[in-house]
Amino acid sequence: MPALSFLEVGPRDGLQNEKKILSLEDKTKFIVKLTQAGLKRIELGAFVSPKWVPQMKDSKELIQKILKLQKENKIDPQVQFSALVPNQKGLEQALKSGIKEISIFLSTTDSFSKKNINATRESAYKKYQAVCRQAHKENLKIRAYLSVCFDCPYEGKVPQKEVIKWVQKIEGLGVYEISISDTTGKARAIEAEDLFQKLFHFISKEKLACHFHNVHGTALANVWSAYKMGLRSFDGSLGGLGGCPYSKVPSGNVPTESLIYLLKGAEDPTIKKLLPIARWLEERLEKKLPSPLIESPYYTV
Ligand code: HMG
Ligand code: MG
Repeated sequence: MPALSFLEVGPRDGLQNEKKILSLEDKTKFIVKLTQAGLKRIELGAFVSPKWVPQMKDSKELIQKILKLQKENKIDPQVQFSALVPNQKGLEQALKSGIKEISIFLSTTDSFSKKNINATRESAYKKYQAVCRQAHKENLKIRAYLSVCFDCPYEGKVPQKEVIKWVQKIEGLGVYEISISDTTGKARAIEAEDLFQKLFHFISKEKLACHFHNVHGTALANVWSAYKMGLRSFDGSLGGLGGCPYSKVPSGNVPTESLIYLLKGAEDPTIKKLLPIARWLEERLEKKLPSPLIESPYYTV
C-alpha cells in the first residue's frame, strides 16, 4: 500500500479564481511558508493565457524564483513542484521555467472542455499527445486531471463510461497519476465509491488521485470513500480556497488541513503550522476562507 500523499493546489487552483491579484512577492512568501510547514508536493501555477486567467500571469517568474530558492537550499530539496500546462505554448513556457513536473487537464464532456480550454476533448487530447511526447523527451514528470467526473455544469450527470474511457486514454499518454476531479462538488460518497470500484477494473489504484471541490459540503465524505477504497493520493487547497473559473459554481476545494485531520489525525503537527498560513492568506486576500479549522478553538487557544 503506498504512503499517503497530499498535493497542495492552493497557489494554482486556490488563487486562480480570486479577483485580488497577489503580488509576486506574496505568492513567493505563500509557497515558501507552505514548504516550511512540511508540504512535499505543491502545484505552483499555470502556463495558461493571462487573458483567460489573469492571476496566473506571473507563473513563469514565480516558478523561477521558487526553484532558485530551492537550489540555494532555502527550500527543502525534497519538495516537488508542478504546474498546469494546457497546450504546446504552455509546455514551452514550462520548459523555460525549469519546472520538472507538469499537469495536463482534460474533461469528460465537450461543453466543459470548450469553456475551459476552447477545444473539444478529442482536439485537446490530440494536442496533448504531442505535448506529452515532447515532455517525456525532456524528462518531465506528467500528471493529469480529468475534470467533471461526476457532474458537468453544462451537461449535467456524467455517465461513468465516459470517465472510464477518458481515464484509459489519458493513461495511454504516459502520465504517472490521474486525478479524478469533481469540479462542481456535486459527488456524494456512495457515487465516489461506485466510480472508483468501476475504475479499478481498468487502472490500478496507485495511479489514481482525487480532487474534490467542496461546494455542497461533501468533499471530505468523498475523500473518506476514496481512502476506504484504497486511494492514497489526495489534492487539497490551504483554507479550502479555490475553484475553476469555468465551473459556474463558487467552488472551494477540500482544505488541505482537513485532509490531514481526517487521514492523519487532529494532532498531526502540520495542521498547526498550516493554520497561521491560512490566516495570513485571509489577510492578503481580504476575505475569510471556508476551512472550519481556521476558527476552531482547539487550534486558536
Ligand atoms: P485560445 O484562445 O484557444 O488559444 O486559448 P489560441 O491557441 O487560439 O491562441 C490565442 C492567443 O492565446 C494567442 O495569443 C496565443 O499565443 C495565446 P495572441 O496571438 O492572440 O497574442 N496562448 C497562450 N498564452 C499563454 N499561455 C498559453 C497560451 N496558449 C495560447 N498556454 C487556452 C486556449 C488553453 C490558452 C485558454 O483557453 C486558456 O488559457 N484557458 C484557461 C484554462 C484554465 O486555466 N482553467 C482553469 C484551470 S483547470 C481547473 O481548474 C480544473 C482542475 O482544477 C480540475 C478540476 O477541478 O476539475 C485542474
Ligand atoms: Mg480544481
